[in-house]
Amino acid sequence: MENKNMEKGKVCVTGGNGFVGSWLVMRLLQHGYYVNTTVRSNTGLTNTHTHTPELGFLRDLPGASERLRIFEADLNHPDSFRAAIAGCIGVFLVAHQMPTDTTTTNSDETSTTSTLAILLACLDAKTVKRAIYTSSAAAAIFSGNSSTTIDEGSWSDLDLIHKSPPPVAAYATAKTLTEKAALEFGEKHGLEVVTLLPTYIHGPFIGPRCPASVYTLVSMLLGNADSYKYLAGSVDVVHVDDVASVQIFLFESGDAKGRYICSAVGSTIDELYQLLCRRYPHYQIAPPDCSMGRPYEISSQKLLETGFKYKYGLEEMYDGAIESCKKLGLF
Ligand SMILES: NC(=O)c1ccc[n+]([C@@H]2O[C@H](COP(=O)([O-])OP(=O)(O)OC[C@H]3O[C@@H](n4cnc5c(N)ncnc54)[C@H](OP(=O)(O)O)[C@@H]3O)[C@@H](O)[C@H]2O)c1
Repeated sequence: MENKNMEKGKVCVTGGNGFVGSWLVMRLLQHGYYVNTTVRSNTGLTNTHTHTPELGFLRDLPGASERLRIFEADLNHPDSFRAAIAGCIGVFLVAHQMPTDTTTTNSDETSTTSTLAILLACLDAKTVKRAIYTSSAAAAIFSGNSSTTIDEGSWSDLDLIHKSPPPVAAYATAKTLTEKAALEFGEKHGLEVVTLLPTYIHGPFIGPRCPASVYTLVSMLLGNADSYKYLAGSVDVVHVDDVASVQIFLFESGDAKGRYICSAVGSTIDELYQLLCRRYPHYQIAPPDCSMGRPYEISSQKLLETGFKYKYGLEEMYDGAIESCKKLGLF
């Protein structure tokens, strides 16, 4: 429930109509923040009807009519974020442009250039105390370290990344280069930049589209082997609500510094198969034939040592995701 006595300052969330962005906007409003969020121009903002199907779910959030403003901005024109950032005390960089082709060049250039331009806008605003960049575990897991534990000291190596299939390589390259550049920018210019490295984000979605990560994780139930083949190695997962909570926690916690891995449950595709068969016996699930075992463990120790506690387990992530998918007719 929204607490009227808890009104806080104004923050900006980029990509507020996305899976993570929309949960974050919802939770920030509940915490009492004024929220400026950005969407792309094709999302329906310019439609004069207040309740366009694409953005109505944001405008209907509790507290939105008083404290949510939606701006248009595009990562390909990063100065377009300036209006949404003006006067904010915090900026959550959540939007990310997925590569449209199999080459890595465009996506990592767009990602790094736009992120640095948004951070420059944060500096210029003179009101921003901290920027939280949503990186990805993909910026750490290709480290090639001899240790099988991935932690905040692990940085993905570009040569190792490029051994992965093109879409994975393009994404991991963009996230690795952008996160490094964001942290360096913060150091160089005296702006507090904290980065968050979630693993697969799962759970219910509040927007009108099934997020790619949720689709991948439920694809075994849908019998789509082309999609669940990406889960052949370690399957590390975190609930979207926990991700939103970590983002807010890292913004509010005075001591937060540097990188934070965010992963609640470590599993394998075989364990997932067993869990899904047990919990959803009415689905006909074929056993996966792409298991590669678990090449590494991902450690959230740094985050847990701050006192943060994950609220959700794998069963709750799947229950929530399936409910949302049912509403879209996917099941
Ligand atoms: N989901 C995961 O498993 C996962 C795991 C680790 C890290 N992450 C990171 O978490 C963040 C959010 O991911 P998500 O799962 O919420 O993805 P999502 O649902 O696809 O949201 C991405 C957001 O970025 C926006 N966007 C894309 N291209 C843009 C552009 N050129 N200009 C402005 N906005 C643009 C999208 O707008 P449109 O709706 O217009 O496309 C959308 O609002 C990303 O940075 C991602 O790398 C996600």
